[in-house]
Amino acid sequence: MRYKITVIKGDGIGPEVVNSALEVISVLPVAFEFNFAEAGFSAYKKHGTSLPDETIKKIEKSDAVFFGAVTTPPKIKDFKSAIVSLRKYFDLYANLRPIKGIKNPRIDFVVIRENTEGLYTGAEYERDDAVVSERVISREGSYRILRFAFEYAKQNKRKKLTAVHKANVIRKADGMFLEIAKELAEDFPEVEFEDRLVDSCAYQIVRRPEDFDVIVTANMFGDILSDLAGAVVEGLGVLPSANIGENIGVFEPVHGSAPKHKGKDKVNPTAAILAFAMLLDFLKEENYADILRNSVYSVINSGYTTYDLGGSLSCSEFSKKVKNCLRKNL
Ligand code: NAI
Ligand code: MG
Repeated sequence: MRYKITVIKGDGIGPEVVNSALEVISVLPVAFEFNFAEAGFSAYKKHGTSLPDETIKKIEKSDAVFFGAVTTPPKIKDFKSAIVSLRKYFDLYANLRPIKGIKNPRIDFVVIRENTEGLYTGAEYERDDAVVSERVISREGSYRILRFAFEYAKQNKRKKLTAVHKANVIRKADGMFLEIAKELAEDFPEVEFEDRLVDSCAYQIVRRPEDFDVIVTANMFGDILSDLAGAVVEGLGVLPSANIGENIGVFEPVHGSAPKHKGKDKVNPTAAILAFAMLLDFLKEENYADILRNSVYSVINSGYTTYDLGGSLSCSEFSKKVKNCLRKNL
């Protein structure tokens, strides 16, 4: 078995963190065929589009995608973000962000965000002197993200699922989301179910992050809550994410292209390495995924870190430590 992986390094620090992760995982006894493809601002400058057709064709033939980060230049009006286009094109409806404390492993939860509808359909229009932004919440879209979250909780032996909404105000849309969640909860008796208002959830994530296990919510709520959640652990340098659809998954660090750090061999590759571990989970290579994660944690907990976690290692020095540790742990 040889896994076909499309690798998109992207812009800014994307290439550095992707190269680091690939260097680390080169010691795994798993056969990969990496196909490199372009996307992002650099692709736009070369091809006039941030997501060339050739990249899409490569992805269609692969088992998963490993993605660095891309730049979205604010000044080009009709510029489309490559990652947002990818989510749309491949209908990557579930966005997963594990929030795990490395120094405090008792913080260990996952935010699952609906990734295709809500306020992100971009449908906005003017009415009199107001602007209306449509928030579309479909029955089908709610059902599939909630079902995904329950399945995820069950498969990963998570104990509790929290459905997050604002049904006291957005009575129809969020009321429906909550109804479907309650119905599904009956099909998953092994998963404890609770629901929470989004504002109260934000407060609790800060006050008692250890209480959460799996959170499932709509697109914009999930966008905001998952960034907030990232701040109760070690932050952007260590946060991976996955975008999952019926046929394919795209795995990437949560952080962006951080252009000011580009090419300095300085940033933390942990987020990218942990994103690769999520890709391994997706390929059902969970055993190697766990060994990879534990190697990263043990290097960090031994005090070897990049600047963002208070250490003095460069990106490549840190990666080398993780690679050696992984080799020993295999
Ligand atoms: P950013 O995440 O790129 O950087 C914000 C700050 O976080 C950096 O200046 C740096 O101090 C820190 N940081 C980020 N990654 C780090 C790492 N691996 N190690 C250590 N520190 C790290 O967010 P920003 O500055 O808002 O956006 C820069 C560009 O990235 C924009 O063009 C934006 O559109 C794009 N972006 C792309 C994303 C993606 O590809 N999925 C996601 C978020 C932003
Ligand atoms: Mg965001």
